[in-house]
Amino acid sequence: MRFFLTILTAASSAFAAAVLQDRSSNYVGYLISTFTDANPKVQFYLSNGNSPSSFRFLNKGQPVLTSTVGTKAVRDLFLATNSARNIWYMLGTDLDVYATGFSWEKVQTHGSKALVIWSSTDLVKWSSSTLATVEDNTAGMAWAPSAVWDDSTSQFYVFWSARTYAASDPGHTGSPSLDKIRYATTKDFKTFSAPADYYTIAGTPLIDQEFQYLGTAGHWARFLKNNSGSHVLEETTTGGLFGKWTRKPGYVTNDRPREGPVSFPDLQTAGLYHLWLDDTTTGYLPYQTSNIDGGAYTKSSYTSFPAGLKHGSVTPLTQSEYDAVLAQFPPV
Ligand SMILES: *[C@@H]1O[C@H](CO)[C@@H](O)[C@H](O)[C@H]1NC(C)=O
Repeated sequence: MRFFLTILTAASSAFAAAVLQDRSSNYVGYLISTFTDANPKVQFYLSNGNSPSSFRFLNKGQPVLTSTVGTKAVRDLFLATNSARNIWYMLGTDLDVYATGFSWEKVQTHGSKALVIWSSTDLVKWSSSTLATVEDNTAGMAWAPSAVWDDSTSQFYVFWSARTYAASDPGHTGSPSLDKIRYATTKDFKTFSAPADYYTIAGTPLIDQEFQYLGTAGHWARFLKNNSGSHVLEETTTGGLFGKWTRKPGYVTNDRPREGPVSFPDLQTAGLYHLWLDDTTTGYLPYQTSNIDGGAYTKSSYTSFPAGLKHGSVTPLTQSEYDAVLAQFPPV
């Protein structure tokens, strides 16, 4: 696995350049990509200045992107970019929980094996939606995607959650694996390497992985939902995405249910990280820590915070990106 260690150390530094370099001067605010149960389409919120708690609902509160492919509903959004920030991909789960005949069992056994993808060079003009089949026929679904850009190979590592069945069980009538994290690589979100397992914990079903780069090459945190206890756990590494990870004892909070973790660094205070957790009914609740290695989180006490936000991502923007998004999608 030396090969992977080498390229992923490079990936770490590339991601640092894309997301964190020169934090206070390059980034002026945050863009939230999210959806609601009632309206499973991409919705944008933009922070007032660099506040992590005060946001405006862009595009006068209307969705900015609608899926016209697959189930025509989209959830679990992730906004990915490269280190040059000249190509953007919006990734989502292809899943309609209001479809006729819907059941959670069915969508995890014979669900969509594709992600919904939009692309843009400027965050303003977007392609129409496309379906990117990332899974093979052993998988029951492909949920909750995210992606990390690797400068050294000029490609993205794409991650999602799936349960898989034996290759000898094409009808998926036998017992599946527990939910686990899968991955593939891509340069264009059209063609992908063969999917492979990224992470499993024996006896614990895992979904909703979120990575957080920690500002030093190879240093990362990741958050995962334990899908049997509906808790979110945290692990850290200093050895890159494919290095050795250490699990923090217990959970980031004993509050439950919690899912869809989104993590991002504070733009004003070095070492402060925000972690939002969806309680599955009212949406994201904000937590924070000044000790991301220690795994101790407290609830953020904000006077304002948007209600009903579901599993999405938070992206720091430069001034020109911030201005372009605000001009194109004026708020309510
Ligand atoms: C996941 O949750 C189940 C049920 O609460 C628990 O038994 C199991 O130990 C948890 N796994 C981890 C890794 O914490």
